Amino acid sequence: MSLQTLSEWLRCPNCFSPLTPAGGLVLRCTAGHSFDANRRGYVSLLGGRSHVVGDNAAMLDARTAFLEAGWYDDLRTALTTLVAAEDPTRVLDIGCGTGYYLRGVTDACPEAAALGMDLSPVAVARTVAGSRQGHAAVADVSLPEPAQAVQVAQVAQVDGLVADVWADLPVRTGVADVLLNVFAPRNPAEFHRVLRDDGLLAVVVPHDDHLRELRDAGLTLDIPPNKAEDLRVALEPWFALETLIGVSGRHRLGAGDVAAVIGMGPSAHHTGTETIADRWPETRPVTFSFDVLGFRRRPVPLLPR
Ligand SMILES: C[S@@+](CC[C@H](N)C(=O)[O-])C[C@H]1O[C@@H](n2cnc3c(N)ncnc32)[C@H](O)[C@@H]1O
Ligand SMILES: [Zn+2]
Repeated sequence: MSLQTLSEWLRCPNCFSPLTPAGGLVLRCTAGHSFDANRRGYVSLLGGRSHVVGDNAAMLDARTAFLEAGWYDDLRTALTTLVAAEDPTRVLDIGCGTGYYLRGVTDACPEAAALGMDLSPVAVARTVAGSRQGHAAVADVSLPEPAQAVQVAQVAQVDGLVADVWADLPVRTGVADVLLNVFAPRNPAEFHRVLRDDGLLAVVVPHDDHLRELRDAGLTLDIPPNKAEDLRVALEPWFALETLIGVSGRHRLGAGDVAAVIGMGPSAHHTGTETIADRWPETRPVTFSFDVLGFRRRPVPLLPR
């Protein structure tokens, strides 16, 4: 990990002055507030104030199983294409989960510095660790060692932050070129503050008919209609909608895949494995449908904050 690159993203959660490395794994602000970073490459700046909890290890396991099977690869490709067109040097993913989408972006933009932020320490740890596995995967061991080193050097630096999106973010003002927010909670005023002038906010939300067949089988919660339009209206004072890309398809899922997709989401607490096998006895097609939205940061918000 690099405490230097991590600190370049961060400000003190108490007094909002920049955090800088202060020896060992300590980050400190000019007022003397100090925080211990983790050897694994992330820091928690929750300050013990948060009562909400992020995704737990079981949900993250289900998310990993489902995403690594490739079911959402088309979505990741669409998001990555949108982001890579910006040629970003600094990418912040808020609500990063296992880091699956951030990894797509950093693979396409290897010179970018990236920060994965989530309320869940397990999620942040996995995002940072996943990026390191990426380093190993990129190195072609058949090449002589100097050539491997060149390849590894081209992989993006991914640091991690445990923080609550509903609080004032412990992230410096104007520090990100691109902000990702995929199926995760949003704080529009803070998103506006941490993005640079003219930066891009890339958001993914499920479309009304996403996982329709699972809902019909009584296996998932309803998705409120018009999510993309609600989002456009909610973000309007801070961001102008520039791009709207629909990504959809139908894929044949068995009970194991269904258990994973349910286990990674808000229905996880409502559905037991036994119920899934009963209600989804054979492999059947399921609709995947998302909106990828690109919002351009307004220079000045339309409303006072
Ligand atoms: C549905 S998951 C999406 C994760 C990832 N973007 C993905 O699509 O794979 C929502 C994520 O938001 C995180 N989260 C929930 N509440 C949060 C909060 N208040 N602040 C920061 N992250 C939060 C959860 O821990 C979880 O990782
Ligand atoms: Zn401070």
